[in-house]
Amino acid sequence: MERTYVMVKPDGVQRGLVGEVISRIEKRGLKISALRMNVMSEDAAKEHYKEHVERPFFASLIEYVVSGPSVSMVVEGKDAVPIMRTINGATNPVEALPGTIRGDFAIETGRNVVHASDSVESAEREIGIHFNGSEVCGYSRIDETWLYE
Ligand code: RTP
Ligand code: MG
Repeated sequence: MERTYVMVKPDGVQRGLVGEVISRIEKRGLKISALRMNVMSEDAAKEHYKEHVERPFFASLIEYVVSGPSVSMVVEGKDAVPIMRTINGATNPVEALPGTIRGDFAIETGRNVVHASDSVESAEREIGIHFNGSEVCGYSRIDETWLYE
């Protein structure tokens, strides 16, 4: 099983898309093992996006991500990392396919509604930034016997 870090960004919260995002994750068969709403601290945001520190959009990205409440999740399942990236769609919503969150609900890269870790290593790093071990629930979902061969 893989774990990934998922965030409904502040624009997604303001636009009332929290339920839509959670619903898509749950219906796909992925398991939510931690969930919280908060305004991300600037320190956490800078640590989270540190790979982009040299990019011209870094300052506006940090400002955006701390601009209001966001919803953080740990999402678990077989191939959870690539499946979540597929559910979200391409970074630039212009390229995101219909049926993806960004393809259905976003227009611009700088307001693209959701985040999901891009690798297992990034996921473990990001989960460590946003959650304590005690906030992540280990449990089985009743439908797992029918989701997995
Ligand atoms: P994310 O990390 O948020 O899930 O997005 P991603 O992997 O699909 O894309 P990434 O390259 O990691 O970029 C992180 C976020 O930075 C903003 N961005 N703005 N103006 C720009 O050219 C630009 N490029 C990236 C987006 O909010 C993107 O999701
Ligand atoms: Mg990224």
